[in-house]
Amino acid sequence: MIAIASDHIGILLKKEIEAFLNEKGLVWQDFGAYDEQRTDYPIYAERAARAVSNGTCDKGILICGTGVGIGLAANKIPGIRCATCSEPYSAILSRQHNNCNMISIGARVIGVEVAKLIIEQWLTTPFEGGRHQRRIDQIAILEDGGTLQGGIH
Ligand code: RB5
Repeated sequence: MIAIASDHIGILLKKEIEAFLNEKGLVWQDFGAYDEQRTDYPIYAERAARAVSNGTCDKGILICGTGVGIGLAANKIPGIRCATCSEPYSAILSRQHNNCNMISIGARVIGVEVAKLIIEQWLTTPFEGGRHQRRIDQIAILEDGGTLQGGIH
């Protein structure tokens, strides 16, 4: 199950992405917003991010004007690693190296076809594990209020 959410700026691109997910046979849940009335992106970031964080959804896709604000908000929810991506390379690496469980994209930044390419790559790229897991664990320590030792040269 894929969580998807946007603010009012991202509504139209979100509908395109939902149709794309349908074509791929993927199941999604839309956590709003549901119309173009002006609203606040953190509300929808939280709804989708909590669904990913608690395991209701496996991954999440977020859309606002730039992808930045909604991604920042999502990253405040424990266990969320959200990357803002405007091209496929970062989207792929955000899976391989960062094991990102959410992606945010900007409806004012990229077109529909680039967005589909980014989403397809992101959804199909596995985490590589290994040394990257250690770094994910370090991020989790920071999230828990801890501090990191060593590695200072
Ligand atoms: C809304 O005007 C806009 O700020 C929002 O969509 C997003 O771009 C924030 O990061």
